[in-house]
Amino acid sequence: MFAVKHLDVAYGHALVLHDVSFNVRKGQMAFFIGRNGAGKTTLLKTIMGLMKPRKGSITYQGKEVSGVPPEELYAQGLRYVAQEKKVFGNLTVKENIEIAAYASGEPLDRALEKMTAIYPKLTNFMKLKAGQLSGGQRQILLVGRALVGAPKLLLIDEPTQGLAAVVIEDIATILKNLKDQVSAVIVEQNLAIVKELADCVFILKEGKIAREIVEKTEIADTKGLEEYL
Ligand SMILES: Nc1ncnc2c1ncn2[C@@H]1O[C@H](COP(=O)(O)OP(=O)(O)O)[C@@H](O)[C@H]1O
Ligand SMILES: [Mg+2]
Repeated sequence: MFAVKHLDVAYGHALVLHDVSFNVRKGQMAFFIGRNGAGKTTLLKTIMGLMKPRKGSITYQGKEVSGVPPEELYAQGLRYVAQEKKVFGNLTVKENIEIAAYASGEPLDRALEKMTAIYPKLTNFMKLKAGQLSGGQRQILLVGRALVGAPKLLLIDEPTQGLAAVVIEDIATILKNLKDQVSAVIVEQNLAIVKELADCVFILKEGKIAREIVEKTEIADTKGLEEYL
């Protein structure tokens, strides 16, 4: 359902992604791991239409989408959860969800239902300003907001980065419950989560795919992934 081919992406003259190619089949969760600066965030931004590739193609549901603006990709079911956990801090949690409901055309009560289905505790926070949420709650709100409308491909950048162990478990559970319902490309450095959830793993090293493990059965047994973090 999704394929990237021979993608090159640069900031000015600095090429940060070189000849990146991979596929994600419908319902799969693909994980990217790699050191800081490897180009993981750049890859997700490029897929979401926030950066223009210098070369290569991105196809989604059989159509070329490189150069398509982010709002159009959103309408087609792409969702990007950025590495920075940016919410509308002065708005309530409910209002944050309302914005997504409006943007996606989904009725607010359905959006709220979805939200509380993935994380019932959030019901208690609806009236709170999103800026008052903990880092973990904020991340859950962001993932929940990405589920509003009809998401088909989630792009999530380091969902558990900097979070406490208990919340990491909550996020892992949320992701696990999403499996098979949507496709996803997730950047994640927590190898326990990768090994538990990944259908395929791509290791990005200095802007190139250094290694790929595309068989789910091999992932849990794969040794030596730590060296790429
Ligand atoms: N806005 C930018 N301008 C110039 N260089 C950037 C910018 N953002 C990232 N880079 C560079 O691109 C490379 C890849 O960054 P990034 O995609 O953020 O990596 P990762 O997410 O894997 O840590 C790094 O060398 C980084 O310094
Ligand atoms: Mg990054």
